[in-house]
Amino acid sequence: MKLLITGGAGFIGSNFIRYLLEKYPTDQVINLDALTYAGNLANLKDIEKNPNYRFVKGDITNKKLVSELIAELDVVVHLAAESHVDRSIMDPEAFLKTNILGTHTLLEAARENGLKRFHHVSTDEVFGSLGPNDPAFNETTPYDPRSPYSASKAASDHLVRAYFHTYGLPVTISNCSNNYGPYMFPEKLMPLFITNLLEGKKVPLYGDGLNVRDWLWVEDHCAAIDLIVRQGKIGETYCIGGNSEKTNKEITYKILELMDKGEEAIEFVKDRPGHDRRYAIDFSKIKNELGWEPRVTFAEGMQRMAEWYRNNEAWWRDIKSGEYQKYYEQQYGK
Ligand code: NAD
Ligand code: DAU
Repeated sequence: MKLLITGGAGFIGSNFIRYLLEKYPTDQVINLDALTYAGNLANLKDIEKNPNYRFVKGDITNKKLVSELIAELDVVVHLAAESHVDRSIMDPEAFLKTNILGTHTLLEAARENGLKRFHHVSTDEVFGSLGPNDPAFNETTPYDPRSPYSASKAASDHLVRAYFHTYGLPVTISNCSNNYGPYMFPEKLMPLFITNLLEGKKVPLYGDGLNVRDWLWVEDHCAAIDLIVRQGKIGETYCIGGNSEKTNKEITYKILELMDKGEEAIEFVKDRPGHDRRYAIDFSKIKNELGWEPRVTFAEGMQRMAEWYRNNEAWWRDIKSGEYQKYYEQQYGK
């Protein structure tokens, strides 16, 4: 198989490329990534010389580039996005450009070139916010996005479905809950808190700390995407979750315990505007139809998470200092 992975220098994309190259040593993978602040080629250092891997620096809104790349391929797995909710609240425009217009550019190129499979990686945030006793989201839950980020992802999901119904483009979509694992950018809750504690700083917990997220180890997400790409039914959506709902306070106390710190390191700060209260996912469709379920338990994942950040201090220090943005020039020249 010849695949184009968009956003492969980000957190999930880099884990997914590593997963593919290990599992399918004859597959060829092209990574198209604009290297925004969230893209980091150091995430792929161990595989950059693999002959079946090629990196292309470019933007998914560049029609000519995207069309040339897609003409060479069988499959697109689309992960490139602006992904951080707080940034979308401060400055939504980049979210609209990349998440909506960028997805549209890819869909057009896929249609023109008769692509065999387009998989769109999306989020549970498109479904809105749950109350404490509401049933978990599933594939039939109506869309109700509440942040500029989730609104832009919802728009991209609708476009992908429109290209299936209108033009017969062979698409699949997945909506996943919160991932965690190696190479997670230290602006998100878990890696921010772990690295802050390693630096001797406090951890900023929003509001009352009782918002709930469902956590999934990133390699389990990669396995689910891979299954959908190879065996998922065209035109279908699959919800992916970790069966691991936790309040942010529970996450914080677990991290404090793993890092050997006390609760005086917590700093309660102003809440995120429009902060979704709870996300939860019912993943019975992908379990029953494709035989997928999460493998890594929350306890095991948190141990691995703390260990990875302890053992990869240079990686996250380079990000926090801004040094990582020089990696492209060092490897590829100006
Ligand atoms: P990330 O922010 O870590 O990575 C995004 C990548 O996309 C970066 O490498 C960035 O350089 C690249 N990118 C951004 N704009 C681009 C553009 N215009 N052209 C080309 N590349 C561009 O994101 P992530 O957390 O790895 O998420 C990947 C995908 O999965 C996103 O679509 C996100 O919505 C979705 N998702 C994420 C989670 C999660 O918990 N992180 C959960 C569910 C779904
Ligand atoms: O649910 C899937 C989504 O999960 C993905 O689509 C997004 O791309 C990804 O960023 C993530 O969104 P969240 O907003 O849930 O993740 P974040 O790590 O930003 O926040 C997790 C929770 O922790 C949320 O309730 C806000 C809270 N939080 C976050 C930060 C950064 C804090 O209390 N303090 C913080 O400093």
